[in-house]
Amino acid sequence: MFSSRLLDWYDAHARDLPWRVGPKARAAGAQPDPYRVWLSEVMLQQTTVATVTPRFEAFLTRWPDVAALAAAPLEDVLGEWAGLGYYARARNLHACAKVVADELGGVFPDTEEWLITLPGIGPYTAAAIAAIAFDRTAVVVDGNIDRVMVRIENIARPIREAKAEIRASAAERTPDQRAGDYAQGLMDLGAGVCRPRNPDCLLCPVAEFCEARAAGVQDELPVKPAK
Ligand code: ADE
Repeated sequence: MFSSRLLDWYDAHARDLPWRVGPKARAAGAQPDPYRVWLSEVMLQQTTVATVTPRFEAFLTRWPDVAALAAAPLEDVLGEWAGLGYYARARNLHACAKVVADELGGVFPDTEEWLITLPGIGPYTAAAIAAIAFDRTAVVVDGNIDRVMVRIENIARPIREAKAEIRASAAERTPDQRAGDYAQGLMDLGAGVCRPRNPDCLLCPVAEFCEARAAGVQDELPVKPAK
């Protein structure tokens, strides 16, 4: 099955990222800290892993939990955000911390439906937090996963015109178990193997499921939108 191939690959090749509880620790019962998952997902919304990593560590050192972040002056949070861009994210981050700390007893909600009501948490981020922090079965589709699905299904249309099909394909492959590891596995696959250019199909654990590969068109997908 697609998901078990992907999960086996993730077990062996997961990236070591500071907000991540790796598959071994996860299997041994370690639980991700929802605060760290939330903070990382907000930072990663428009910024690369390489840029986020040191900034995530700095944030964590300064504000180790949601109560500390909520108690910080907004100016300090904006200052620490410098260089990450899209400052609305930092304002929403602070607003969200206040809601969680002051109104929810410091406990992050554990469902997509509830998470999406919080400042700065849209459909993608709600699904990512539900899956990664709480192992809820949620369909997580970011830019990397768009590209993976377009290739798996050999969809020769620009991503923005194929959203419904991409989502349906992602949904039907999402497993009931280990949804968080599965989502992170797809992200890692997109980042390291099913890259935008020169996808490395020889290393791909799901190559046998890939329609683009079967047709030899993986380098031509995703199709760029017409200008
Ligand atoms: N991009 C967005 N979320 C991510 C995550 N949790 N791990 C790696 N890359 C990501």
